Amino acid sequence: MTGKGAREYATIWALRQHNPSAEIFCAPGNAGIAQLARCVAIEHQDVESLLKFAYRTQPNLTVIGPEAALAVGIADRFRDLGLLILAPSKQAAQLETSKVWARYFMKRNGIRVPEFRDYTDADQAQARVVKIGANKIVLKADGLCEGKGVVLPYDYQQARETIADMLVWGKYGEAGKRLLIEERLSGRESSCIGLSDGKTFLPFRPARDYKRRFNGDQGLNTGGMGGYAPVPGISDVALQGIVSDIMRPAVSGMAREGNPYVGFLYGGLMMTEEGKNYVIEFNARMGDPEASVIWPLLRSNPLDLLLAAVKGELSGVQAEWSDQVVVCVVLVSGGYPGKYEKGFPISGIADAERLPGVLVFHAGTKFNEDGIVVTDGGRVLDVEGLGKNYDEARTRAYEAAALIQFEGKDLRTDIAAGL
Ligand code: AMP
Ligand code: GLY
Repeated sequence: MTGKGAREYATIWALRQHNPSAEIFCAPGNAGIAQLARCVAIEHQDVESLLKFAYRTQPNLTVIGPEAALAVGIADRFRDLGLLILAPSKQAAQLETSKVWARYFMKRNGIRVPEFRDYTDADQAQARVVKIGANKIVLKADGLCEGKGVVLPYDYQQARETIADMLVWGKYGEAGKRLLIEERLSGRESSCIGLSDGKTFLPFRPARDYKRRFNGDQGLNTGGMGGYAPVPGISDVALQGIVSDIMRPAVSGMAREGNPYVGFLYGGLMMTEEGKNYVIEFNARMGDPEASVIWPLLRSNPLDLLLAAVKGELSGVQAEWSDQVVVCVVLVSGGYPGKYEKGFPISGIADAERLPGVLVFHAGTKFNEDGIVVTDGGRVLDVEGLGKNYDEARTRAYEAAALIQFEGKDLRTDIAAGL
């Protein structure tokens, strides 16, 4: 497995539940992952070193966590060497790595999307903003921007500056050389994530994440402040509708166009007032923190599902799910998503884990020289409460979160409130 966040912890944790004696490596991992797997000091974007390591150790399967390596074709490189890897090819990963490419793909495959146009010329882009209105559009850099490439301008001035930053000043690098301007929708967001083997899509439980830093969805976007699964309002029947209208057409469209998609496929959806789901984005990976709320609900052995996906054998495979719910509260470093300090000792994890229905998944942690677990990122720990309803799961998550301490610890207090 590649990566070092809670998504990778959650995935390895799920594999470990069912495969206690499997040998699992994680590059590079974190302090929690080190208790479940062997951490290898290779960064997740270092494709050459990952390739060498995998060639030497010949794992049965490699799973990619973050998207950066997908954009440079890690899956193609592994497959060229005969190594099994659960990740889309460079071409197929364009569903995430090029927002413009992905929009045209969705449109020609009959998948419902907001209206959009793409631009390389700043004057033309600005003319579009003037025509439609700055607060009715969304500006998106075409390429990967670590979650910072989407701007919902509040006025014309901000729209103009963003367009100039992308198309004139190159502040978003290559990723911002092309710009998407799309219709701004409003509605409830959800994440429909599952596995594709190139032909079939197997949905996981739907989930919701909280992207904004502060209560009431205020403040800057973050990598995720919490989440829950499943999602009230997305019944099994509704999920089947999403699969047949969105996820399956995406998988079959990719295959028909000669780019079969193998790996986790993540549909970021928005349900508008008239009850229609639009695709806000596709991601070519598991979500974070969605992984933290989805994996604890899986009853089947995840390894069977991952191997079936990689071997093109998902057809007919059923996943068994618990009927519990999971609520996740993310503990973050003070200052995040802006500047923050790292290296503060963390206490109370074991006390939290002793509570019934509680799991603690490490995100940004490491062992310091004295072997103490310290903070090592903006998002530090995902604290999960499991329960028979959202109230119970939520209470458990917050009780556990209160037991964990580190300097600057912060959190949102409204995760899964009022469900
Ligand atoms: P993305 O990186 O594409 O997921 O965008 C980040 C966030 O921007 C999404 O989770 C939405 O909240 C918001 N967003 C993106 N596109 C749209 C849109 N067309 N209409 C409204 N909100 C959007
Ligand atoms: N939770 C949002 C993402 O993984 O992109």
